Amino acid sequence: MKAELSFANLAGIEAELLAVLAADAQTSKEPQARAEPALLTSDDAVKAAAAAVLKSGEFKAGVNETLLLHGPAGLAAKRLLIVGLGKQAKVTIHSVRAAAGTAVRFAKPRGIRELVLALPETEQLPPGPFVRAAVEGAFVGDFDPDTYRSDRKDQSVQSFTVAASGNLDGKALSAAFAEGVIVGESQNFARSLVNEPGNKLTPTILGQRAAQMAAEVGLGWEVHSTEKLHELKMGAFSSVAQGSAEPPALIVLRYEPEGVKDGPVLHPTNKDPSAGTPVLGLVGKGITFDTGGISIKPADNMEKMKYDMAGGAAMIGAMRAIALLKPGVRVIAVVCAAENMPDGKAQKPGDVQTAMPIAPDRPGKTIEIINTDAEGRLVLADGLTYARQLGATHLIDAATLTGACVVALGMVNGGAFSNDDETYAKFDASLAISGEKFWRLPLGEEYAEMIKSDIGDIKNTGGRQGGAITAAEFLKVFVEETPWVHLDIAGLAWVEDSKPYIAKGPSGVAVRSILEWVRSY
Ligand code: BES
Ligand code: MN
Ligand code: ZN
Repeated sequence: MKAELSFANLAGIEAELLAVLAADAQTSKEPQARAEPALLTSDDAVKAAAAAVLKSGEFKAGVNETLLLHGPAGLAAKRLLIVGLGKQAKVTIHSVRAAAGTAVRFAKPRGIRELVLALPETEQLPPGPFVRAAVEGAFVGDFDPDTYRSDRKDQSVQSFTVAASGNLDGKALSAAFAEGVIVGESQNFARSLVNEPGNKLTPTILGQRAAQMAAEVGLGWEVHSTEKLHELKMGAFSSVAQGSAEPPALIVLRYEPEGVKDGPVLHPTNKDPSAGTPVLGLVGKGITFDTGGISIKPADNMEKMKYDMAGGAAMIGAMRAIALLKPGVRVIAVVCAAENMPDGKAQKPGDVQTAMPIAPDRPGKTIEIINTDAEGRLVLADGLTYARQLGATHLIDAATLTGACVVALGMVNGGAFSNDDETYAKFDASLAISGEKFWRLPLGEEYAEMIKSDIGDIKNTGGRQGGAITAAEFLKVFVEETPWVHLDIAGLAWVEDSKPYIAKGPSGVAVRSILEWVRSY
């Protein structure tokens, strides 16, 4: 999709489709007097073209409601699409993001390849965030997962333009627009990885795709495999990989901004910013297929487990955006990719594994394997330790970690956990920009008790109760005192039912929030 920002007059724009946004102006105070939806444009020609249908009451400007007019009088565009934002008082950049996606997904199946979106004019928010959100929404809306259909026709919108009023600050708007393109494309890059089936995207291929992207955008990268895992004594990660004929991939991506990269590193407890800079560690679960291993999963829905690398893909997508947006902070991503398979060499329930030691003179923690299907926390344990060893002062991880998290929060909110309120506050603030939904769940000594092992230090499951929390407690054992945020995205990584603004399939969740968290340092 080609995207551009224009300051041309709306009425004169010759396009297949011109989309404008409208809000429901009805206030509950005066239910008798039905207020017309408010078009969020000051363009008189557009207002005139839409006047009759807005007056008719047929279109209520509900959230993502659409109405199409052909040959709108007084406009050069062939069609006018009005997209609803819902209640006017509740309009945010997130409603604009969805509305832009809705406009794109309206155009696609109708063979409309050219779309111009009028930047909404409202006093509620500055135009910069609106423009960025609109572009993000358009890119996200343009993605469809039907890659392997032999009769696939590319229905992508070829040209997407945001039309802004000429009296706005063009420079600021252009910057926001460019940001939206980078973020939208990076989220779609993550989605394209998640969409790949297990036979097409093995750990090795995921490593290749990450390396190729890194080379393109100028990130440092390394991809290691079995030998390096053994060298680093990554007993937990290796134990998951050992049951597969596919070798694991330990993917490391590095972003080192000029001027910061050679400076001193800030100790996380040091409040004096002049003492050095933080190093952010992004750790992702990259299970390219999760059969459950010897504790094998039921056949129903097992095919979905190709998306068990969505946390890793989110980190790879976020690193792409980071490389292009160039925040002033060092970032290291570690993605632990493996396939969880049952096999003669696979690990068994009851086995004891030794996780990677944080330093050569310290013993690695021992883990009793209760259920080989609780593999995500095993690969993350060594991934988190490795990120710390590489110098991360603050950690964030993302993983499709537990079904229990989906039971607790549904497919609405992701689960979030943290051992540090200050670090979590930064993540929470990033949600206001990303529009993604995460709900913080508790940690605590009583939960930590539930994963104590009789034979070793800890066990890899804590029973059915509080399953998302005991999984987080397991990870906490390995982050120790390093400030850390854990995101359980099991319920959000796959969109089960298509929405007006996003296709059914991989969501690319967490890319935007992780990016904003990084940019807050
Ligand atoms: N990948 C799954 C979690 C999952 C479930 C992701 C549903 C997406 C949708 C994870 O590896 C897993 O199998 N977790 C187990 C843990 C249990 C054995 C303690 C689970 O949630 O059942
Ligand atoms: Mn599993
Ligand atoms: Zn899994």
